[in-house]
Amino acid sequence: MGMKVLVVGGGGREHALVWKINQSPLVEKVFCAPGNAGIAAEAECVPIGAEDIAALKGFALEAGIDLVVVGPEGPLVVGITDAMRDAGINVFGPTEKAAAIEGSKTFMKNLFAKYDIPTAAYKVFTEAEPARAYVREQGAPIVVKTSGLAAGKGAIVCQTEEEAMSAIDRIMVDREFGDAGDEVVVEEFLVGEECSFIGIVDGENVLALASSQDHKAVGEGDTGPNTGGMGAYSPAPVMTPELHERTMNEVMYPTVKAMAAEGCPYQGFLYAGLMIDGDQIKVLEFNARMGDPETQPLLYRLKSDIVPALMASATGSVKDLELEWDARTSLCVVMAAGGYPGSYAKGAAISGLDAAAGVEDAKVFHAGTKLVDGVVATSGGRVLGVTALGEGATGAQKRAYEAVDCISWKDVYTRRDIGHRAVAREKG
Ligand code: AMP
Ligand code: GLY
Repeated sequence: MGMKVLVVGGGGREHALVWKINQSPLVEKVFCAPGNAGIAAEAECVPIGAEDIAALKGFALEAGIDLVVVGPEGPLVVGITDAMRDAGINVFGPTEKAAAIEGSKTFMKNLFAKYDIPTAAYKVFTEAEPARAYVREQGAPIVVKTSGLAAGKGAIVCQTEEEAMSAIDRIMVDREFGDAGDEVVVEEFLVGEECSFIGIVDGENVLALASSQDHKAVGEGDTGPNTGGMGAYSPAPVMTPELHERTMNEVMYPTVKAMAAEGCPYQGFLYAGLMIDGDQIKVLEFNARMGDPETQPLLYRLKSDIVPALMASATGSVKDLELEWDARTSLCVVMAAGGYPGSYAKGAAISGLDAAAGVEDAKVFHAGTKLVDGVVATSGGRVLGVTALGEGATGAQKRAYEAVDCISWKDVYTRRDIGHRAVAREKG
């Protein structure tokens, strides 16, 4: 009998995971909690919130789940992995202690300092006045971050000292991010090109995925406030084979060794957000999960079955595993609700999904969608991740926008320049 797999979460990343896991010959049935309208067409959705750990554990036991795969960071930092393990259920993802690599920037930065992992110079503060004094001493540009989780919005890049003072006020005085701002990290502003480097880790070994790059800013030309991500593609040409090798030796393996030495061996997806400047690699942040939207283009490009790697990470070793990738570029364009990352409307009916499904080598992954009276409607800020394969970034971009242009709803917002850096490189 094949495996039963439960995917936890309900965004675009989880749709891509469900879609990929469903293709595995090892798998009999995929469940997803809570899922979304797109996931519901491919798996059985279970109406349990991603952070309702007691209910998820109860469901997993009752349904005889063979592997739980956790998508978002929320359930990880509150201990879903520990709870499932205690109940004897196989689970892919770091423990609560290990997820602190994402859940606490203070923990992460202190780990970097202790184990010599390259990162921006920084200082941690629990009070506003010393933080202000440090900003005055360092000058701008400078970056002010909440230590805790803030849905991708807790890092404020400040071009002037005034902006930095206002960021400190927003986080520490107005407490805009709540407890996430109890501690603040003030760090050096780094220049270069960002790249996402994700590995499947078993506590000791790292199985690297292909490189990827996302577009965090809401506006074209990468301008305006940061979002969860407006698009992504793989591979990221900035990550050369030589830099890949160095990232494994200077970032990924040292981090995995450091986590084991600290008594919290790391298992699951380990995502390094890197800043590359010439031959210099620095870690901006670690995430304890896959990226969203990076997962969509990555898994759309992955030719190998992912289930053996997830199972090996959860229960054994990934040491001798290899992953095979489509040689083409994969690119995902996020279609969002107008107004995101600020306030936006929900409940708009989405048209054109059937036409988009007819575009060859393209796939529409759902994020914030919901079935309302049999109609697919918007229910979140990031609504769809339209993903396509093509020759180079130029070909993948053309194909992805072909599918994007089939789809519409009231006040839809889409960046038209996803992949621009890679496309510019191809033009030479
Ligand atoms: P983080 O949540 O720490 O990854 O920060 C979110 C985004 O802010 C990053 O993807 C970068 O675009 C930007 N950022 C964060 N830290 C720095 C830094 N030290 N220098 C320049 N940009 C940064
Ligand atoms: N796309 C960035 C993230 O998932 O954190």
